[in-house]
Amino acid sequence: MNASPARVLGLQRVNFGVLDVAESAAFYEDKVRFVPRGAEGDRVIFGFGAGESQLQLERSPTPGMKGFAFSVADAELDAIVERAAAAGIPIVVHPTAGVGPGERRFARLLDPDENVVDLVVAHDGANVPRAAPTVARKLGHIVLWTPDIARMEAFFEVLGMRVCDRTHLGMSFLRCNDDHHTIGLALSSSGRTGMQHAAFDVGTEQAVDHESARLAGSGVRCIWGPGRHGPGNNIFSYYFDPSKNIFELYGDMQRVPTDRSEIGVRYWGTEHRGDISGKAGPPPAEFRS
Ligand SMILES: [Fe+2]
Repeated sequence: MNASPARVLGLQRVNFGVLDVAESAAFYEDKVRFVPRGAEGDRVIFGFGAGESQLQLERSPTPGMKGFAFSVADAELDAIVERAAAAGIPIVVHPTAGVGPGERRFARLLDPDENVVDLVVAHDGANVPRAAPTVARKLGHIVLWTPDIARMEAFFEVLGMRVCDRTHLGMSFLRCNDDHHTIGLALSSSGRTGMQHAAFDVGTEQAVDHESARLAGSGVRCIWGPGRHGPGNNIFSYYFDPSKNIFELYGDMQRVPTDRSEIGVRYWGTEHRGDISGKAGPPPAEFRS
């Protein structure tokens, strides 16, 4: 018996708008060493790990995140969408057959900042471990700028997520699986919305250090890190892609209980500066808005 509400299970996909798909795809494949799983039209798709989470690159004159997707269980998709509709969330596409690679069913919502949020039931075949080695195990989390943290928290709570940490810097972190956070919210005093960064799990502290050194050797400058965050305790390193989308390679994130019980919300006060290792220093301008 499980009376817990249906919820999203983790991130399935993020779409980056890029100025030049070929240039960006070459960057992610040759420099970052992500593994492409194919192309669809002028879209290039990279796949990660056993769950086949994805980074999709699509051409846009205005770079930035063009949407993202959560994975959901087939039996829970309808319930989540019904709950969202009852909460007044705009349902752009009601549950229907999936059209993207690896997607069996999907629905599309808009969050309060009008980010496109898909809910995707993966094909069974999409849950097969990849043979090809890949730097990243999965798309782990996305951090969104928002002028209204409480409104965005309420949206993700309707999807079954729970707030785990907040900070004096105006950040909020929400979980839905055993990762400390899957969504982060960053307060923007200038009204900015959209993605601050998307993060890919490379496993360990040593892996983050290794990839950071390797990328530096390839001429890819780390814009912040390696260091260690307070909330989530993960080792972080951040980079620009050729269109100035920010991506993070991280490791060693705190695990939280997978049951659906409540955990206390931890508050990080003014002692918190974003890096607890003392090695990375304060966040650069790209992390302030
Ligand atoms: Fe992050």
